[in-house]
Amino acid sequence: MSKTNKFLVLIAVAFGGIAHAELPEQSPDNHMGVATCAASQCHGSAAPRDGSNVLQNEYVTWTRDDPHSRAYATLATSESQAIASRLGLSDAARADMCLDCHADNVPEDRRGEKFQLSDGVGCEACHGGAERWLSTHYNTNVADHSVNLAAGLYPTEDPEARATLCLSCHLGTDDKFATHRIMAAGHPRLSFELDTFTELWMHAGRQPHYRVDDDYIQRKQTYDHAYVWATGVIAEARLRLSLIQDELGTSETLFPELGLYDCHACHRTMQSVQWRRLPRHGNAGPGVPFLNDGALVMSLALARSIDADLADDVASALRRLHAAGNGGSTALRESVHAMDRSLERLQARVSVEALRDGERRLLREMLEVGAEGNFLDYASAEQAFMAIQMLVIEIGDPGLEEKLGPLGDSLADDERYRPSTFARLLAALTD
Ligand code: HEC
Ligand code: HEC
Ligand code: HEC
Ligand code: HEC
Repeated sequence: MSKTNKFLVLIAVAFGGIAHAELPEQSPDNHMGVATCAASQCHGSAAPRDGSNVLQNEYVTWTRDDPHSRAYATLATSESQAIASRLGLSDAARADMCLDCHADNVPEDRRGEKFQLSDGVGCEACHGGAERWLSTHYNTNVADHSVNLAAGLYPTEDPEARATLCLSCHLGTDDKFATHRIMAAGHPRLSFELDTFTELWMHAGRQPHYRVDDDYIQRKQTYDHAYVWATGVIAEARLRLSLIQDELGTSETLFPELGLYDCHACHRTMQSVQWRRLPRHGNAGPGVPFLNDGALVMSLALARSIDADLADDVASALRRLHAAGNGGSTALRESVHAMDRSLERLQARVSVEALRDGERRLLREMLEVGAEGNFLDYASAEQAFMAIQMLVIEIGDPGLEEKLGPLGDSLADDERYRPSTFARLLAALTD
């Protein structure tokens, strides 16, 4: 696979909860295996079927073009074997540390007869163990969507639940995490944004994985890009806070889990001084590592587009978090709590209705947050680009779309990221 570039401008593909469901890996249902979905009259049709609610060729799309079907095979590459050997593992493809994200690694006693670990991130890694819904889900006379959900189908259509699902591998959970040890052994740095990654994944191949048409909207819900983005950044911000909280409760080492920090706070050149004061870091000077708060900065821009008081609340919680980040663990724990409460209030205000027709306002706030110097760090700039790209595509202004290319290019190599170039290109979007 040629590596998908999230900075590749998505113009070409421009078109217009149940948050607490158990993750597919956690629920007690058995995982029956991809082969149980793959019959040609089920999801293994060679081409999309007419007269069906769903495309029915999902299996073919997944095998041929979906990166998730290759996730297990990746563990056999020389790159993976090198990572494994640096970590002292004999075989990446047998190590839970890797399989937990690169396969549907449920315990042996929850694997059906046709289950194969080598299927990688298969249907049930996202849609949930099919044991109880397999025989009913294709017949709407027998079971509608809510019945299937009650039988363990994961609510992938719900943006909040989807964010929790994707982030469980694209960031991690308290059970599995791409730790700094794994990174330092050679694993690619992870970054995620729900709407952008959904688009990249949907359009990775010749056919999309599913189609949002009238029938889909009637059965499920509309797909609103700004709402999916907003849901995703709040979910990531809150997940990061809970991982920090967890780390504070369990770590007994001198250094905290560095994977929670901004990689580029430490990994920059020593040839010249790259440090710049970030407004949200208060008085923290150079030489101090800081938490990766890209999704939190996005939440700030989002809050500003909704309510000024709410935005002040998020901004002060963020400053407090950074001030505490270099203090003791009690202060940090309290500031994480306070930040999470602010995000909870923000989340309660976010809805499709609240964001409707708000793309221009949100873009304006995003550019304003940038103009204040908040995207001087690569992690925030990368998040800002993904948000701006989504907004510009939604707004549909060719003049703005033209300016996306250079902005994306300025992020292509994180180690050559120049904040001043990014700021200049960002300012050009306001002209
Ligand atoms: C069980 C873990 C898991 C889940 C859940 C998961 N992913 Fe992934 N994803 C991976 C792995 C592992 C890869 C890398 C596959 C490879 O190349 O070996 C990947 C790759 C991708 C890529 C390609 C990225 C690139 O840079 O090429 C996209 C896009 C993506 N996932 C989107 C999503 C979305 C959207 C969701 C939620 C609907 C999701 N993923 C859920 C594990 C997961
Ligand atoms: C927390 C989940 C997680 C864990 C743990 C994890 N990975 Fe990954 N890995 C991912 C995701 C997600 C991607 C895709 C990243 C992207 O492109 O955005 C990925 C990508 C990769 C890639 C690059 C694939 C490509 O197509 O370029 C390799 C190689 C890899 N992982 C190997 C490993 C090995 C070996 C281990 C165990 C030591 C491991 N991973 C553990 C989630 C994880
Ligand atoms: C990386 C996660 C992931 C994997 C792997 C995955 N799906 Fe999906 N699937 C989704 C998401 C997200 C949606 C869109 C939201 C929704 O409506 O559920 C979706 C939608 C669908 C739909 C359309 C639902 C509708 O109501 O229109 C079908 C059918 C489907 N997937 C089948 C499969 C099959 C079969 C496989 C395995 C060959 C598979 N999926 C693998 C995440 C995934
Ligand atoms: C607080 C500082 C700090 C942060 C934050 C940090 N690292 Fe590191 N990193 C280090 C140190 C220290 C080493 C060990 C260097 C050595 O082995 O000599 C290291 C080693 C590495 C290496 C191996 C380099 C080598 O040549 O051996 C990689 C790759 C890496 N880190 C990636 C990351 C990624 C990705 C992130 C963000 C998720 C990150 N680091 C966050 C301090 C940091």
